[in-house]
Amino acid sequence: MAIVNEYRPVEIFFGEGAINKAGEVGRRFGFKSLIVTGRRSTKESGALDKLIHSLNTHGIGCIVFDEITPNPTDKQINKGSDIAIREKVDFIVGIGGGSALDAAKAISIVSSNEGYAWDYVRYPEGSRLIPSLNRPVITIPTTAGTGSEVNRFSVLTNPLTKEKMVISHSLNYPKVALVDPELTYTMSPELTAITGFDALIHALESLTNKRENFIAEEYSIKAVKLIAEWLPIAYEEPENKKARRYMSYATMLAGIAIDHLGVALIHAMEHPVSGHYPNVAHAQGLSVLSPYVTVFNYKGNPEKYALFAKLMGEEEKPYRAVDALVKFIERFKLPKTLKELGVEKEKLERLTEDVYMCARNSFTVNPVEVGMEEVFELYTRAYEGNI
Ligand SMILES: [Fe+2]
Repeated sequence: MAIVNEYRPVEIFFGEGAINKAGEVGRRFGFKSLIVTGRRSTKESGALDKLIHSLNTHGIGCIVFDEITPNPTDKQINKGSDIAIREKVDFIVGIGGGSALDAAKAISIVSSNEGYAWDYVRYPEGSRLIPSLNRPVITIPTTAGTGSEVNRFSVLTNPLTKEKMVISHSLNYPKVALVDPELTYTMSPELTAITGFDALIHALESLTNKRENFIAEEYSIKAVKLIAEWLPIAYEEPENKKARRYMSYATMLAGIAIDHLGVALIHAMEHPVSGHYPNVAHAQGLSVLSPYVTVFNYKGNPEKYALFAKLMGEEEKPYRAVDALVKFIERFKLPKTLKELGVEKEKLERLTEDVYMCARNSFTVNPVEVGMEEVFELYTRAYEGNI
């Protein structure tokens, strides 16, 4: 059996009201913080006010950088980093969905080292990054899907080249995650479903790809189980405490699982889609692509796909994994074709090339060997809705 490891340099506080620990935790790192968030939702929900109140109560000053959009760009990271340097902030707090958390972590890396955000995508371990100078990051998720609050990834888009790539480095871990399920109560049913679907695909791809780590696989299995049971309830009853709590927990587990095991072809094929079409949410792309890729993949790891099907409440047969996904997509009214997302047919070739250029890591661990022709065919099927 392969040697496996479990390494989690992230302190996690989990539970309703965890956001109120921000001030107490922040004091470990200094007296001046940069809050990284999006333009609207954390203001409208009151989460940002709660955070500022907690920090201020502990004598910590805040600068708010609220320019992070879905599919955050390298330019936004460079701007945030300039502010962190200019204002000499001691630490960074990311609050919001995956984009805000990814951005906060990337701003820490860039503002603590030389260069620009794009220098750090695919940056190898053991490089010139200086750990002792990294500004600590606190992550506070307000959705349940990304898992960014506990792992080393930041996904960035370069709007000039349309490339969407990942910073994946052990120095990109946040120091503390405050996972407060209460912050997810204000998510609409649509946002609940779409973000929950991202977590489900993290669990599916980490469980079924070629990498092995039996510890992390347990996290994937638990995450699938919880999402199958509780996402429908969170969708129907936004203030169901138990459902929200289990979804935040499942997301975190799936986020740890991909930290060890990575993802596979569904993510590899999705990133070019939202890279070229930034209005498409990451999980919308996943929703469209997942059944097609699973039809292609299940024979590569029949045992794990059968397990996934079973955990989703289907018959324990590998191909039932496809049925489970299709049913989930129907139930939550998620998108089904690339056409529906506004993708143009003539772009499919370029998207195929970008899978090779930008997402090779996820691509090479796919359960089934895959080449350019197959990727193009899968995009074409997903465009037309031809499963
Ligand atoms: Fe994802």
